[in-house]
Amino acid sequence: MLTMPIDSYGAPDVLRPVRVPVPEPAAGQVRIAAEAISVGFAQTQIRRDIFPAPVWRPKLPVVLGGDVVGVVAALGPDVTGVGVGDRVGAFLLEGAYADHVVAEAATLIPVPAELDAGAATVLAGSGPIAVGVLSEGRLAAGETVLVHAAAGGIGHLAVQLAKLAGAGLVVATASTPAKLEFARSLGADVVVDYTKPDWADEVRAATDGRGVDLVLDSVGGDVLRQGIQLLAPSGRLVFFGSAGGGREIPSVSVMDLIGLKHVTGFALNTWRRAHPDAFRDGVAELTEHLRAGRVVSAVHARLPLSDAARGHEMVEGRQHHGTVVLVPSV
Ligand SMILES: NC(=O)c1ccc[n+]([C@@H]2O[C@H](COP(=O)([O-])OP(=O)(O)OC[C@H]3O[C@@H](n4cnc5c(N)ncnc54)[C@H](OP(=O)(O)O)[C@@H]3O)[C@@H](O)[C@H]2O)c1
Repeated sequence: MLTMPIDSYGAPDVLRPVRVPVPEPAAGQVRIAAEAISVGFAQTQIRRDIFPAPVWRPKLPVVLGGDVVGVVAALGPDVTGVGVGDRVGAFLLEGAYADHVVAEAATLIPVPAELDAGAATVLAGSGPIAVGVLSEGRLAAGETVLVHAAAGGIGHLAVQLAKLAGAGLVVATASTPAKLEFARSLGADVVVDYTKPDWADEVRAATDGRGVDLVLDSVGGDVLRQGIQLLAPSGRLVFFGSAGGGREIPSVSVMDLIGLKHVTGFALNTWRRAHPDAFRDGVAELTEHLRAGRVVSAVHARLPLSDAARGHEMVEGRQHHGTVVLVPSV
């Protein structure tokens, strides 16, 4: 079968095809014949060796991770609750860029047959992250939410889910007019180009000077510092990525929070383990939203798995609206 590992850190062309035998799942695992695999921004940072959490620095060679949708092709020993032929999604930290992937059976989510595989990849990772950051951010109806990188894989879902949860005002940031228009088309009330030096003034003005109740920050760096300043009293900032800052994570002094401000971090696997019911219910609800067309999962491009390098170029080049997916059978 085809895999696309990296054997050194560097530019996208370190992703090279390698043929290996189809893997056998171990106890508690399944093998999935992949239909679609997402290219997440985090994987481009891991490939460049600038990922903010050094604990996740993989040993090389490694097949990078991602959100996978496919059909269960084989069961390891002691697997219950899932069978051969079931359509599932898996959020993999490693081993996703392959025709066949191995995943822990206990972490799989169901994927309805009628959903497009590329669009459904979000059910495994990006979607639960969007659900989880809104949940940890304690969004209440009527509140003002600032969603950064709002045209991205996670961001475009967060905009829509915030509106569905009853946010009073959703302010979306992105780096280009086309991305801002995309965020507006998904329901953002106000869009702001955060590459402009005065972007925070624009956000403040949109809230009549009050500030925002919730900031969803996957960008870090100076955007994070300014986001804390933008919080209204009792406002919350959820930090879950460092797309703009890489390994440079700003320190937050408790004095920065003295005006009743709250900052929390978010990691999907921690949230799933700590709140399994919220995770399961969130995935089920998002599945229904996708089925009913209340939430759009935008697929920016579908590329052959062998073209993973081009997928990485798109994502780190900030060209995409929604998700870039790799398709084994193209
Ligand atoms: N905590 C978790 O469990 C978890 C899990 C997976 C991913 N994540 C994080 O969630 C975030 C979003 O992931 P995603 O896959 O959906 O990515 P994405 O939002 O599709 O892509 C990242 C976006 O960040 C924005 N960005 C801002 N400054 C940037 C810079 N200097 N260089 C490149 N991009 C910049 C870009 O949007 P604009 O062009 O509009 O600025 C870019 O498109 C990432 O930070 C990722 O690491 C967190």
